[in-house]
Amino acid sequence: MDSTIAVIGTGYVGLTTGACFSRLGHTVVCVDIDEAKIALLRQGEIPIHEPGLEELVRDSVQAGRLSFTTDVEGAVRGAEFAYLCVPTPQGSDGSADLTYLVAAAEQIGPHLPSEAVVVNKSTVPVGSTRTVEQALGRTDLFVVSNPEFLREGSAVHDFLNPDRVVIGSDDQSAAIRVASLYIGVPAPLMVTDPASAETIKYASNAFLAMKLSYVNAVAALCEAVGADADDVMLGMGYDSRIGNKFLRPGPGWGGSCFPKDTKALHFLSSQAGYSFDLLDAVLDINHAQFDRVTGKITAMAGGTLEGVRIAVWGLTFKANTDDRRDSPAVEIVRRLVDGGAQVRAYDPTVRTELPEVPEVVVTDDAYAACEGASVLAVLTEWDEFKWLDLDKVAATMSELRIVDARNLLDRGAVLRRGFVHEGIGR
Ligand SMILES: NC(=O)c1ccc[n+]([C@@H]2O[C@H](COP(=O)([O-])OP(=O)(O)OC[C@H]3O[C@@H](n4cnc5c(N)ncnc54)[C@H](O)[C@@H]3O)[C@@H](O)[C@H]2O)c1
Repeated sequence: MDSTIAVIGTGYVGLTTGACFSRLGHTVVCVDIDEAKIALLRQGEIPIHEPGLEELVRDSVQAGRLSFTTDVEGAVRGAEFAYLCVPTPQGSDGSADLTYLVAAAEQIGPHLPSEAVVVNKSTVPVGSTRTVEQALGRTDLFVVSNPEFLREGSAVHDFLNPDRVVIGSDDQSAAIRVASLYIGVPAPLMVTDPASAETIKYASNAFLAMKLSYVNAVAALCEAVGADADDVMLGMGYDSRIGNKFLRPGPGWGGSCFPKDTKALHFLSSQAGYSFDLLDAVLDINHAQFDRVTGKITAMAGGTLEGVRIAVWGLTFKANTDDRRDSPAVEIVRRLVDGGAQVRAYDPTVRTELPEVPEVVVTDDAYAACEGASVLAVLTEWDEFKWLDLDKVAATMSELRIVDARNLLDRGAVLRRGFVHEGIGR
């Protein structure tokens, strides 16, 4: 059964949600307070880099099932469902800041038709379903939790082929209505209470962050004992209890979700009377990893960064996205600049200067970043870096030294060309 959905917040999650629901046959209007973003979308342009999203949006707009507006009232007036996809950033004490969520609920509350279902897709602490109910100020609406697990870089695929759909509701009929939106999505669908649904999201993200911190800790151990972390991870990953995903050592984890969600889970646990000490270690290991990688680059540069020219490949928090929120690459670049290095950086999605670290010279190709550099640091795992001409890189750099913080490049090929090479955990 096709439904009418208003999506509030047209960012990575909201735009993907809107486009994918319209692909599933529903009629969707995406709302945002950012007028420039909506104007761009109305012109047929996509404000973010997300594979497959542009085509999906175009097809859905042409089919008349997807539109964009800044008019919240008009968007929700006839909606059977209102999906909240607004930011829940980290507050100053580590808690999730619900200002946007509450503001959005207050805005839509007076205009929704009776019996509409307000669905919370933003990542929120336990108890937020009640918070939204209060902000809506109505007793004739349903509020349901439906956390999102998509990964940036494969958001469309993940939305349409999720590992699971989680619905948290105290009202069975509302849960069934939300479940019906996902008809056609081949995934297990679980219905639980709102607190459990909210906890599933945080606990999953913090678990993944923990897995990455564990991998980086094992990689540090591998360096100390002369083991090869890539082989160790391969050997571990064959164990189906461990699984072979999320087992790559790297420069530390980041992005718009893991850091804030891990801290928010830690905060809400303390509030609830449980001291989740494991998460302290997860966060500490991650910060130490930024320093370890910076240390490797410094050592490769001869012990000091002062006046040293460093080439950087990759600025986004991972490949296939343009998102640099809490990017480990940016964290490390900031440390390099603070240490006195002259950084020239290339990333396929960055064409202007880097507001986070304006001292960085952003180049428009990978070779230009290497000009006169004493060290090349690979910080994001963009596939295209694997296929670059290493002879050309060697001819451009002043010293042949590479720190590959993603273990991305073919080490044999790098060594054959005379580079000194340092990876993670080898
Ligand atoms: N990005 C991800 O990979 C991901 C994955 C799963 C869950 N989440 C969660 O989803 C939520 C949204 O994340 P995102 O990355 O899409 O954020 P985003 O910053 O990309 O997009 C949020 C959008 O909401 C808009 N907005 C804010 N207040 C509004 C209002 N009152 N009315 C209309 N629009 C409003 C903003 O202008 C922005 O365009 C967060 O809670 C996040 O933790 C994100």
